[in-house]
Amino acid sequence: MTGLPFARRTHGVGPSMPRPEHGGLISFEDGYAYPGGLPDLGDIAATAARAFRPETLQYAPRVGLPELREWIASYLRAEGTQVTGESVLIVNGAKQGIDLACKLFLDPGDAVVVTRPNYHSALNIFRGWDVELVEVGLDDEGLDVAELETRLHARAKGGQRTPKLLYVVPEFHNPTGVTTSRRRREAILHLAERYGILIVEDDPYRRIRFEGAAVPPLQVLDPTRVIGLGTFSKLLAPGLRIGWVAAAPDVVRRMAALKADGGSCPLTQRMILEYCRAGRFEPHVRQMTETYARHRDAMTTALRAEVPEAIFATPSGGYYLWLRLPEVVDSDRLLDDAKRLGVDFLPGSRFYATPGPKNVLRLAYSYASPDDITEGVRRLGEALRASA
Ligand SMILES: Cc1ncc(COP(=O)(O)O)c(C=O)c1O
Repeated sequence: MTGLPFARRTHGVGPSMPRPEHGGLISFEDGYAYPGGLPDLGDIAATAARAFRPETLQYAPRVGLPELREWIASYLRAEGTQVTGESVLIVNGAKQGIDLACKLFLDPGDAVVVTRPNYHSALNIFRGWDVELVEVGLDDEGLDVAELETRLHARAKGGQRTPKLLYVVPEFHNPTGVTTSRRRREAILHLAERYGILIVEDDPYRRIRFEGAAVPPLQVLDPTRVIGLGTFSKLLAPGLRIGWVAAAPDVVRRMAALKADGGSCPLTQRMILEYCRAGRFEPHVRQMTETYARHRDAMTTALRAEVPEAIFATPSGGYYLWLRLPEVVDSDRLLDDAKRLGVDFLPGSRFYATPGPKNVLRLAYSYASPDDITEGVRRLGEALRASA
């Protein structure tokens, strides 16, 4: 169909592509769960559908099932937050949480601070709300606070709007894998307070830590300024589409009222709750963390052998590896060669709100098996040599 009157605010949003499933392709493209690690929820699904039928086949409370809200609150309290059930909203994945934060707080033309590079789906969600994206660089300690301060100061002097929201993925950042240091977290909070900016802390990978000590979430360091987002996607299964927003009860109630879906699915909420109550959640998370550590190791070993010209920091957790290739490489073009050889990835261009470097790309090591990772990286090296 041509000539459709698409809204102006959606012009920067690319179409959502179906997953390429052609035979033999090894995919490093997206943060899919490892298929061999997906939990068997058959018994739990039967219990949820049979024993809880009046609840699970009915409209659920918009804010989510009270017991699941309580379970998530106690899970978050174990991290040091003050969260109660009242401050938890169940959503259809963290992405819906980002969208609801936009819906509740942003007017057209408002500004949002994002990192450069930034999680591409969040960029697309922001674009859909007709806002200005203020990109700020990041280094191996996280968001460059000095740059942010300079930008905020210049905007205030130039009469430009102060951003309303600052979006951060402080733990195992997507796409770079960087974890924000405690010092940097405190500096971000300090600056946000000075300028009256709300922080959206998107933290899906916190528990997927392979080594090193955890840093307190921003929400623990300042409960008043931070809207926390979490998800079962990276811990259990993305297909369940259940995540949460942790915020002040008033924010939670307002977001619930804006939820256009009538509440997240009670059947999946009950399944997750029964799974967690049966004590199966923590062992599963531990097992998946070990699995992903093996995937990470397979990828870094293969990269050193097959793509020695690549520069990367070894991530201590999460799903992704950010690769810097020689200046002459254009990762959008490299992708064509790579696909022909049976491997894919996401080119760096997807992670910048305005054009960025061409020679970077993201590899997800979550989905492919260690053997496939080894072979996929070999193909990537071959593609690189073919395109040179
Ligand atoms: C930073 C970040 N936020 C959110 C999500 C998606 O979360 P959900 O599946 O809960 O919508 C991802 C998944 O890749 C992510 O990397």
